[in-house]
Amino acid sequence: MKKLIGLAAAGAMLVALAGCASEGGGAAAESGPKPLDELVVGFAQVGAESGWRTANTKDIQAAFEEAGIELKFSDAQQKQENQIKAIRSYIQQQVDVIAFSPVVETGWDAVLNEAKAAGIPVVLTDRAVDSKDESLYVSFLGSDFVKEGEKAGQWVLDEYADATEPVEIIQLEGTTGAAPAIDRAEGFAEVISENPNLEVVASQTGDFTRAGGKQVTEALLKSNPGVDLIYAHNDDMGLGAIEAIEAAGLKPGEDIKIVTVDAVKDGMQALADGKINFIVECSPLLGKQLIEIIKQINDGETPQKRIITEETTFTQEQAIEALPDRQY
Ligand code: AHR
Repeated sequence: MKKLIGLAAAGAMLVALAGCASEGGGAAAESGPKPLDELVVGFAQVGAESGWRTANTKDIQAAFEEAGIELKFSDAQQKQENQIKAIRSYIQQQVDVIAFSPVVETGWDAVLNEAKAAGIPVVLTDRAVDSKDESLYVSFLGSDFVKEGEKAGQWVLDEYADATEPVEIIQLEGTTGAAPAIDRAEGFAEVISENPNLEVVASQTGDFTRAGGKQVTEALLKSNPGVDLIYAHNDDMGLGAIEAIEAAGLKPGEDIKIVTVDAVKDGMQALADGKINFIVECSPLLGKQLIEIIKQINDGETPQKRIITEETTFTQEQAIEALPDRQY
């Protein structure tokens, strides 16, 4: 009987170890940690669509440089098929870890299963994937986008607390299908639903770009001349909206209020100048935390499954104070 219990326990341990290996870090656990200068990491970036993204790329590249870890970097130009190609090439090159920020939420299971079968741990940075199988990635490091949308909604709710007439809102959405576009819309809608006077009269994607924000605002101002507020899912689209509002002979921040997400330098400057009214911060500085996760994987440790970035919000006064020290 004792022998049987012993065998069962040994079997359970093997199953548990196999589970750990399939969640990533298996190779490291078997052969011991590699020296950092022998590690190779493949990073598949979304693109260069915004000031936020540029800051994120720079921060990641600087963190790898400082840690002495080799980084293979690719820019998918906001196309999922390019990211999938990049990930497949990292699998072929047998890198030690793959990290990526998924351009959209769905459609990753096949390529992530290929990485898993090759024993290469995957770390998600910035954006999530929508998959039932959480074993396809080791850790997800990034913001709580729903909370960001809620914070934007809360400012609008407070600003129009005494409104007795309908408040017309235009929403500039991020890339269709991307986690921050879905979640920021959800959080915002949930909070503003507390006041029936707050109404999103139009909502369209500007693809997280300044040009997209400008173009969509130009068109939507024509069909919604009574608009009171624009909620843009990022600073860049808000900055594009400012251009469109000024071109229409109106004053951004006064005739039409603007709320955005990110808090990159250009956005903060517009907030300080009174052209944007409120910004919810989304930090692009993920490089150092990503390196920590990679080191844990290399040491055979299990990183935290979800790491949420710490973030704040900015009013005009706070932007004026923060601007001189803003890194990005
Ligand atoms: O995923 C983060 C978002 O992507 C940022 O808010 C936006 O600026 C970027 O393009």
